[in-house]
Amino acid sequence: MAYPYPGPLQSNTRNAKEPLYPETVLNYDREAASYDESRGGLPRARAAAQAVHDLVGTGMLAGQAAHGLPGEGTLLDIACGTGLVSRELAGLGLRVLGVDASAGMAGVAAGRIDVVLGDGRRLPVRDRSVDAVTTIWLLHLLDDARPVIAEAARVLRPGGVFVTTVDKRAAHGPGGRQDPPDRAELVVEVAAGHGLVLSGEARFAGHGQGRDGAADPVFRLLAFTASGER
Ligand SMILES: C[S@@+](CC[C@H](N)C(=O)[O-])C[C@H]1O[C@@H](n2cnc3c(N)ncnc32)[C@H](O)[C@@H]1O
Repeated sequence: MAYPYPGPLQSNTRNAKEPLYPETVLNYDREAASYDESRGGLPRARAAAQAVHDLVGTGMLAGQAAHGLPGEGTLLDIACGTGLVSRELAGLGLRVLGVDASAGMAGVAAGRIDVVLGDGRRLPVRDRSVDAVTTIWLLHLLDDARPVIAEAARVLRPGGVFVTTVDKRAAHGPGGRQDPPDRAELVVEVAAGHGLVLSGEARFAGHGQGRDGAADPVFRLLAFTASGER
């Protein structure tokens, strides 16, 4: 379903020389039909959505008070995947628009939420047009998380809130990349460079995500409020 006019969408011709579909989406196209089942299904989606919602609510109230903004509550879910978390966020009262670069994942999400096919590194969304942005389990997949954080800052209204998972691999225990792109210190530093001020932190349970019989990992979320200065 198309996002209703006058929503935040714009046609996107920025960085037109880059390939539209990053390599990170190829496996997700193949995996779309079985993704929910293998990623904790509804219990994990609900836990993630509740944690995001709590951070967005708290941060947005503070930001709106500081900037005198009305609370429209439009949330852009970058890398929404199958839209299961997004749908839960909508159920908690937010107006949600999903974006995903995998046609397979976005196709599943389209049965659940308003979604567009797009790359989080160059969003088809107007400047300062949304109240909240999330990236759940995206930054760790990227070669470089900076373009996505920059885009989140660009599309957020002053006082809006960006919520992202960080340190995803570390939640599963030792191992993995030496300098993962979603490490908290780096995300905080890059966000600050785009006027995003650290404003909260939460965790959610990764139901069924323990590897090799390990207990369910707990995933970390950071929240940032847009200062309006970039
Ligand atoms: C691990 S899944 C997370 C999906 C969802 N957020 C969730 O919590 O279930 C990662 C998603 O990121 C998407 N993705 C990867 N690179 C992307 C990019 N550059 N822009 C937008 N989506 C991307 C993939 O297609 C996939 O749907």
